Order: sequence, then structure tokens, then C-alpha cells
Amino acid sequence: MHCIRKITDDLYWVGANDRRLALFENIHPIPRGISYNSYLLLDEQAVLFDTSDWAVCRQFLENLETALNGRKLDYLVVNHVEPDHSASLEEILLRWPDVKIIGTAKAFTFLHQFGAKTEGHEDPVKEGDTRCFGRHTVTFLAAPMVHWPEVMVTFDTTNGVLFSADAFGSFSALDGKLFNDEVNYDRDWIDEARRYYTNIVGKYGMQVQSLLKKAAKLDIKMICPLHGLVWRSDLGYYLGKYDKWSRYEPEEKGVMIVYGSMYGDTESAAGAIAAKLVEKGVKQVEMFDVSSTHVSHLISESFRLSHIVLASVTYNLGIYPPMLSYLHDMKALNVQKRTFAIVENGSWACTSGTLMTDFVTKEMKNCSVLENRLSIRSALGPDAEPQLDAFVAAVADSVNG
Ligand SMILES: Cc1cc2nc3c(=O)[nH]c(=O)nc-3n(C[C@H](O)[C@H](O)[C@H](O)COP(=O)(O)O)c2cc1C
Ligand SMILES: [Fe+2]
Ligand SMILES: [Fe+2]
Repeated sequence: MHCIRKITDDLYWVGANDRRLALFENIHPIPRGISYNSYLLLDEQAVLFDTSDWAVCRQFLENLETALNGRKLDYLVVNHVEPDHSASLEEILLRWPDVKIIGTAKAFTFLHQFGAKTEGHEDPVKEGDTRCFGRHTVTFLAAPMVHWPEVMVTFDTTNGVLFSADAFGSFSALDGKLFNDEVNYDRDWIDEARRYYTNIVGKYGMQVQSLLKKAAKLDIKMICPLHGLVWRSDLGYYLGKYDKWSRYEPEEKGVMIVYGSMYGDTESAAGAIAAKLVEKGVKQVEMFDVSSTHVSHLISESFRLSHIVLASVTYNLGIYPPMLSYLHDMKALNVQKRTFAIVENGSWACTSGTLMTDFVTKEMKNCSVLENRLSIRSALGPDAEPQLDAFVAAVADSVNG
């Protein structure tokens, strides 16, 4: 059965959802699935914006054929070549052999590398070019590294729709509701949108900033991304989030405590720190076991909050491996402008505190580490309370100050 949604008089969502895939990019857990959005414009020419992942191709084609209702497809605009959006392209060529494909020169290079036979169909475009499909004229803006080098976004100058590629996308399949005003966004979507942005595009803040600057010059009425919801109201809210994330500014003042503990003593200290922080009036305090929390969630929270407490055992004279992996991910995704506080534990030769401090100060950008470090020899006894209080006071002062 087809499943399509009307967006405007002549624009349709013909994408498809994957609720079976466990890991996006074979890395990130997506318990709520993912949507691959594809849009069909029925002007004098019939124009498709991007396709779908291979896994949902059957549903996607049924949707597309239903929306076309016997018309032939004239154009396919490839904003992004990553196979979650272009894998179904060859099925399009088989069904509509006259289709012209619009994309950047690099997009065609990548399509060839992936084995797509687009020769004879190609209509390469660059930034500022326009194409008219009848009533609608579109223009193209380069968006390199949001999220691959070939990416462009397409702006429909007739109705103000921005086809934004992966930008403004989100994890989570669509459950019937397509528009941002059909959902309770802050309750049901923002966390998955943040986790998508920070883990998929987070590294490329500078490139997102340059796209936002170009977008600011356009009269955008609607944003149609390749994953997640279509935005047709309150665009400033989402543009504001993207501006913050891409400048690596925290959304909220607050503390995430990430702890790595084998026998529970470092965990116990982390719990005491959390309770004392709340008592000191810090409203946002979140605890995460680094061993059991997928790092994509840790990254997402690291973008959200201003302060990060790293609490790690020493492990064979090193940082606890899952903590080290979280640190490496933060560096890889360019997390910056955060304040860290360090809790270390060692039973005979404690090194984790100095190693974590060195990592944050030498490997990451624009981050600081509070001087007050909490050092645990195996376990905190009751006599350690003054030391614990001093540590918590330093963190709370930094958050509240
Ligand atoms: C496999 C393993 C390796 C460890 N390596 C070190 C080490 O090199 N130096 C050290 O001071 N403590 C070492 N420890 C002790 C831990 O750092 C920590 O003090 C102990 O696990 C208690 O904290 P926990 O209850 O939070 O796990 C090691 C513990 C384990 C189980
Ligand atoms: Fe992508
Ligand atoms: Fe994508």
C-alpha cells in the first residue's frame, strides 16, 4: 500500500520509513527507526528530489508511482549522493529512461564511483544556477561537507521551499505525522534531532555556519530535509538550534557526569556528586555510565550541556577504555567550548586524572579543566566528605557563575 503526504498543492512526500534497521551508518542505534525523505514536485515537469535507501526501495517506488499517477518522471535532483538517498537511483533510470539528473559535478563523480550509470542523463549544476520546471524556478546552493563534499541544497524561489539535504534532518521514523506542527517537538523529537545532528554533521560546524549564512539571505517558508520532519512553522526555533550547535555553544547550563567504574566505587562517588550538585541549585544534572550508554547519546548531551564531569578508574595505567573512546569521539566531532571537571580513581598507581586532563587540554579545542580534581584511592570513605564538598562547590560555582 502506498503512503504519501501532500505538502503543498503540487509537492508530495513520497519517501519511506525503515523501522527495522538497528544501527544507522552501522554505528548509531535508532530504536525509533529513520525516514528517508523524497519529494515529488508535479509542475509542467515532474521533478523528484532525492531517492531512498535500498532497504525501503519497494515502498518508495510504490509511493512515487502512485503520486505520479501515470505521468513520466522528467527530472531527478540529487542533493546528496550518500547511498541512504541515492541507492534507489538506478531503479528510477530503469523505470523512466528519459529522466534527467541534476546534481553537482562532484555528485556525478561519486555516483560513478558507487557504480551508477548516469551517463547521458547528467545535467550538472553549480551554485547560483537555476532551473525552471514550469511555474517553479529553483536555484542551487553548494553545501560542501554538510554532510559530504558533493552536497548541495535546492531552493524553490516560487514557494520558498528549501530542500536541505541532511541539514535539519533527524533520527526517528515518521508515524504519519510529517510536519513539525503536527508533533510535540520538545517532548518527542528534539533529542533525536540533536543526536542526529551532533553525531552525523557535528564535526562540520564551520560548514553549517556558512550554509546558515547563505540561507539567511533567502525567504525560506518551509524546510524539507532528507530525514525526519518537514518544517513549515517556527523556523527560527530550529535555525536557532542549528546556529548554537554549529557554533559549539551549549544549549543549557548544566552538568553531565560521565563515569567509568568496574566495581561501583567511582559510580558511588558520581552519585554523591550529582546529589550535592542538585542541592547546590544546579538544575540540569545528568548521570551516564560510560560502559552502558551508547556514545552517540553521550555526544548529544555533550553538545547540550555546558559542563562535563569525567569520572574514570585507572585501567592498566591508562584511562578506562570506554571513557577513552568517548574522549576520542568528542575530539573527532569537534566538541569544544566546554568546562570539564575530573574525578580519578586508582588503587595503586592512579594516572587517569592526568591523562584525561591532558586529553582535554591538548587534544580538544577551547576547553578548560577546573583545577579542583577529586582523587579516589579505591573508594571514598566518610572522611572524604570535605574533599567531595570542595569539588562540588567548584563545579557548582563554575556552572552558576
Ligand atoms: C583490570 C583492572 C586494571 C586496573 N589498573 C589499575 C592501574 O593501572 N592503576 C591503578 O591505580 N589502579 C588500577 N585499577 C584499580 C581501579 O583503577 C580502581 O581503583 C578500582 O577498580 C576501584 O574503582 P571502581 O570500584 O570504581 O571500579 C585496576 C582495576 C582493574 C579491575
Ligand atoms: Fe548524509
Ligand atoms: Fe542522510
